[in-house]
Amino acid sequence: MNTAPKLARSGGPALVEAMKFVTICRALDPQNDYPHIGDLQWWCRDGSLDDQQNWHFWYHENGEAIALGIVAGDEIVCLLHPNFRTYERYRMVRQWAVQRVKERAGKTGENQYEIWEQIWGLATGDDLGMVSFLEREGYERQEMYYHCYRRPLIEPVPAPVLPTGFTLRPVAGEAEAEMRAALQRDAFSPRGRYTYEEGILRQLAVMQMPQYDPQLDLMIIAPDGTPAAGCICWMDPVNRVGLFEPVGTRQQFRRRGLATALMLGGLQRLRERGMQATQVIGAHPGDEEKSTEFTSSRFVYEAVGFQLLCRTYLYHKVFATTI
Ligand SMILES: CC(C)(COP(=O)(O)OP(=O)(O)OC[C@H]1O[C@@H](n2cnc3c(N)ncnc32)[C@H](O)[C@@H]1OP(=O)(O)O)[C@@H](O)C(=O)NCCC(=O)NCCS
Repeated sequence: MNTAPKLARSGGPALVEAMKFVTICRALDPQNDYPHIGDLQWWCRDGSLDDQQNWHFWYHENGEAIALGIVAGDEIVCLLHPNFRTYERYRMVRQWAVQRVKERAGKTGENQYEIWEQIWGLATGDDLGMVSFLEREGYERQEMYYHCYRRPLIEPVPAPVLPTGFTLRPVAGEAEAEMRAALQRDAFSPRGRYTYEEGILRQLAVMQMPQYDPQLDLMIIAPDGTPAAGCICWMDPVNRVGLFEPVGTRQQFRRRGLATALMLGGLQRLRERGMQATQVIGAHPGDEEKSTEFTSSRFVYEAVGFQLLCRTYLYHKVFATTI
């Protein structure tokens, strides 16, 4: 590309407020699947959350935030403060989110709109009340689900072992945004869900996020200089929990131990910076025969010491527009 791409804006003040909110929720309820502040920043990379109307906070009379609704495209996320968690409040947040998706569909003149909603279930059992509520509302559970894994960082982390000639290093700032974006796209969307140019804008947006640390955006470079694998580590310095989002290896470099080495390198750096644990999320296709692509991440995570924390289901419903 000859012209420098325009910088995508980050999620603005709502992102900062949301980061504060999830930090408090995670401190009070660490076993739960509240998004990590790194997740929130990662979600903002495509610009869909720049519109501050896609975030809504509810406050207690003492000024404390007690609930947050996020509408990212056709995905809705409803979060409640652990001390204010009731089904009635959950319904209030959902109602706002569904209405927001509906209004947007009305403005664009679409005759139907759809909603994807993530519902977490603890590894020990699902939130049956929530499941039956959504099913009564006509939502269908998708085959695909997410697993969230956690690894303590109390003990020293083994040193990464790389194949001969490969090196592990951080990305050298915005000058390497294009290279880093191409690596990400090739690892995750080789069939092209978005263009390379969009990928660069997303990477630059990530680099502008409040807590992005270039020293924690890591790549493994092949002997011929090709970036072969990459991961970004995020830190929640208050709760001392790190996050890997994303982790990817280009197809032609898979099964050579690169993701394993990358994660060990990331874990070492997170530990050096005072993190006491780290999380990572893996998508599972549901029916493993259909795709082993994403399921395979589980083996890498387990190999470097992660254990399953909780599972998140995806529910989906298509609505007819009546406005
Ligand atoms: C998941 C992914 C990052 C693994 O990268 P990788 O560099 O191939 O991983 P490694 O070589 O370190 O694999 C380590 C171990 O994990 C297991 N594993 C990795 N890929 C596997 C696969 N496709 N099938 C079965 N086991 C697999 C194996 O046990 C492997 O060790 P082995 O090769 O000695 O048997 C890569 O497949 C990828 O980029 N997938 C698409 C993006 C993605 O799903 N990212 C994770 C979610 S953020």
